[in-house]
Amino acid sequence: MQGQLDMEGALTARDRVGIQDFVLLDETTDEAFLSNLHKRFSKDLIYTYIGTLLVSVNPYKELDIYNNKQMELYMGVNFFELPPHIYALADNAYHTMLAEFNNHFILISGESGAGKTEASKKILQYYAVSCPSTTLLNTVRDKMLMSNPVLEAFGNAKTLKNDNSSRFGKYMDIQFDSEGEAVGGHILNYLLEKSRVVHQNHGERNFHIFYQLVQGGEDDLLQRLGLERDCHHYNYLTQGECAIVSSINDINEWKTVKNALQIINIDKMTTDYLFEIIASVLHLGNVQFESDSKGNAHLNNNAALRWVSNLLGVDVHLLQDGLTYRKIEAKKDQILTPFTTDHAIYVRDALAKAIYGQTFTWLVNRINESMENKDSSRKSVIGLLDIYGFEVFYVNSFEQFCINYCNEKLQQLFIQLTLKSEQEEYEAEDIEWEPVQFFNNKIICDLVEEKHRGIISILDEECLRPGDATDLTFLERLEEKMGNHPHFVTHKLADKMTRKTLERGDFRLLHYAGEVTYCVVGFLDKNNDLLYRNIKDLMCQSKNAIVSECFSAINLDNRRRPETVATQFKSSLLKLTEILMAKEAWYIRCLKSNESKQPGHFDEALIRHQVKYLGLMEHLRVRRAGFAYRRKYDVFLKRYKPLCPSTWPHWRGIPADGVEVLVQHLGYLPNEYKMGRTKIFIRHPRTLYATEDAYERCKHELATRLQAKYKGYKAKGEFRKQKEAATKIETCWRGAQARKEREKRAWAVKVIKKFIKGYMTRGEAKSTDNSEYLAFVRQNYLNRLKANLPKTVLDKTSWVHPPAVVAESSEILRKLCYRVMVRKYVRGITPQKKAQLQMKYLTSSIFKGKKESYPQSVAQPFVDTRISEQDINVRVLQMIRNERIKYSVPVIKYHRNGFKPKPRQLVLTETAAYVIDEAKITQRVLYTVLKGISVSNLTDGMIVFHVTCEDPKQKGDLVMQCDHLYEFLTKLCVIANKQNAIKVVQGSIKIEIQPGKESVVDFTTGQEPMVYKAKNGHLTVVATRARTR
Ligand SMILES: Nc1ncnc2c1ncn2[C@@H]1O[C@H](COP(=O)(O)OP(=O)(O)OP(=O)(O)O)[C@@H](O)[C@H]1O
Ligand SMILES: [Mg+2]
Repeated sequence: MQGQLDMEGALTARDRVGIQDFVLLDETTDEAFLSNLHKRFSKDLIYTYIGTLLVSVNPYKELDIYNNKQMELYMGVNFFELPPHIYALADNAYHTMLAEFNNHFILISGESGAGKTEASKKILQYYAVSCPSTTLLNTVRDKMLMSNPVLEAFGNAKTLKNDNSSRFGKYMDIQFDSEGEAVGGHILNYLLEKSRVVHQNHGERNFHIFYQLVQGGEDDLLQRLGLERDCHHYNYLTQGECAIVSSINDINEWKTVKNALQIINIDKMTTDYLFEIIASVLHLGNVQFESDSKGNAHLNNNAALRWVSNLLGVDVHLLQDGLTYRKIEAKKDQILTPFTTDHAIYVRDALAKAIYGQTFTWLVNRINESMENKDSSRKSVIGLLDIYGFEVFYVNSFEQFCINYCNEKLQQLFIQLTLKSEQEEYEAEDIEWEPVQFFNNKIICDLVEEKHRGIISILDEECLRPGDATDLTFLERLEEKMGNHPHFVTHKLADKMTRKTLERGDFRLLHYAGEVTYCVVGFLDKNNDLLYRNIKDLMCQSKNAIVSECFSAINLDNRRRPETVATQFKSSLLKLTEILMAKEAWYIRCLKSNESKQPGHFDEALIRHQVKYLGLMEHLRVRRAGFAYRRKYDVFLKRYKPLCPSTWPHWRGIPADGVEVLVQHLGYLPNEYKMGRTKIFIRHPRTLYATEDAYERCKHELATRLQAKYKGYKAKGEFRKQKEAATKIETCWRGAQARKEREKRAWAVKVIKKFIKGYMTRGEAKSTDNSEYLAFVRQNYLNRLKANLPKTVLDKTSWVHPPAVVAESSEILRKLCYRVMVRKYVRGITPQKKAQLQMKYLTSSIFKGKKESYPQSVAQPFVDTRISEQDINVRVLQMIRNERIKYSVPVIKYHRNGFKPKPRQLVLTETAAYVIDEAKITQRVLYTVLKGISVSNLTDGMIVFHVTCEDPKQKGDLVMQCDHLYEFLTKLCVIANKQNAIKVVQGSIKIEIQPGKESVVDFTTGQEPMVYKAKNGHLTVVATRARTR
């Protein structure tokens, strides 16, 4: 809704200067039409619409409305949203083509100088900027753009009507791919006005290229071509007496053309050939004939002729013969018929025209090759038709006849496609309709082209019939056949008044665009366009590649007589009509503002005339009364069905009902549309544009939905594929794994079998059956052994038990191992430790296995002494100062009488053992008198020193209890060498208290260790049992 409002707003804003679309005029009179046109023209608004038809008035001045900014403004914008412009029409055609993917053409019509060629260039430039492009496409685009200056140089000329008048017809197809990129182009050219090469009316020029070469050509080029830098030097350039015109800059154009030739891929050598041809034509025009007494033409040492032969690369004598004689072959003879001077000039001019005409066709072919799109995928095209406009000169000849006939045909096409077919369509579709009257120019077309009866047929007949046919006999024939045709008149047929305006050799046609009087002189020759055979053959031999190529091609189909020029033209126009009828049409009607090319001058009479003959009023009436847009129901429905929920995605009923539902949904008012038999008719473009806008918006939503669906579908497919692949891989992987597993098991079975066999035969001599097993057993044992070697020398039990096969080796290893450990141990021990061990060894040799508490003592290290010297009384030390104290230990001494226990120190010196009580030595036992030492076999610490007691003063045996029994006794053994004196006794020890008096120490075991005097007077020692570990 907002869009609609915007559009309406824009429409009124735009209409400030006159009305932008004639359809919206209040009244459809000529006056209103012209006034609107004038109003706009005076404000430099040269474009106005009649519906989708564009009316353009030539401003004859540069307007700032063709820049890139303007182009951007019009890109992709709806037709009626911006002021009328040629870009809007171009853009609309382009987008319709893209949307419907069909072919279109833009018919640009108007009389000579009305601005057709300019319009076609503007459209091409617009597409060059607005279409998407790539580097590759840019070259195609450049070629399309650059084909224009080249074709204009060779095919345009200054005429009285237009300084850059197209003298050939051009239909150019621009091919677009589905992305809308311009990918190629093709040009069809129609009948070049060749006569201009050799003749120009006063005030007119030859084709631009001649002047460009002479004025702009570089010095060395001109020298090579034998040309002077002076147009007046050349007969073919001076007949119109206006070689130099201020409005045309030949020098600049020359540069543009040379550059353009490069862009369309014409190489240096070919360009040279091209300029040689242009120069040779100029030289040919300067070939002058002398006439002899019989009036026959002669050429004597003609410099111009030599240049022609030189530039075209043909033999100069043959060329001379060709221009002065006609060769007739009669049976085996050749007859040479000399030409009169006039005939020779005719032949020379014919050659010049032929060379130029052929070269022009060659050029178009080359341009087509360079723009060709080799990709064969489907393209849609927009055709641009820019043909010479209707023209009336003071003297009109065969060329004007053809040009104006062509314009008649195009007008007919326009009528067919708009007025006639449109009205017929309303009738056929049962749409209420009041017919609009219009002039149908078919009658004039028929007059010219009808088979057997038309002017062209009569002209051809005259050209072909034997006998003396002349232009005048042709005129007579016309008068005979067309006697009372309302559009044909001659001097003879005319009434008195008209006769005054006609010469005897004239005929007049009442064209749709006005009367034109044609002078018949030259009609037959120009229609025949004959070139003698010997000249053609000569041209085939030309060293100029372009000339030889062109003429060889004509000679190929030389067997039958070529069609006349008019007939060829007629058929090419017929073909063109067919091409155009198959496409959708867009129209640009160009109007010429004044005859004198004055900027801003609005010649009302001239414009009124053009408006009339172009049928613009009729077109407007049909448009106003009619419908701007129509489409077959199915096509309309197919495009817009997404706009209505009832028609999307499928309409199940007949399309017409679907369309009705659709437009109701869209809110079309009853007067905005009509339903025909097969089509819907929409009255105003704005209704359609609003629908199109809605569709555009909806398309995006749809596209997103479709995209999402498609993406989902793709992803599913992808997932399925991946899953299949994964399963496949998995299967393969599992297979491979299973095979591997099977191999492994087979191998394992073999190994196990061998192992079992080896095990069973392990006791036998080494054989193939058990060698591996035995090796395995050995290795296995060694590995086990390595991991479980004994940690200490003393560990004699943890040596790994060897299997039989390695028992021997194991034993050797075991010994080795212990030896190594022992060595390591031995090396590691200190001298103190060694001494200690030696002593422990001594202890062991005395007590091991004899005394119960021995095993517990092994782990307790021996110390140097148990009482340090400081703890021994100084007086004692004083007393024994001559002896070295070796060891001291606290003991409990049992008194010999009564066995009273007393703590004492026992000191061992080198010679004696002292019992010390504080500062007193209570007993001294010399080692020499120590005859024995007794201990029990139990765990008690009782020691008995048996002393030799011969001397009564001496005390008896010494009974002591010592906590460090083993240490003490071992030290004593070492110091006093008494190891053999120690006795381990069981039960009891006899002691001598005094000489002759004995007692006994009894040893027994009990719960608690105790020492006491028993009733029997014995010293009883109760020892606990040693705990076995
Ligand atoms: N849109 C325009 N803006 C400015 N000048 C223009 C425009 N259209 C035409 N002209 C002027 O009018 C001249 C004639 O235009 P153009 O050559 O396009 O005519 P034509 O219709 O092709 O004529 P012919 O039938 O003779 O080829 C141009 O050379 C140019 O000077
Ligand atoms: Mg033109």
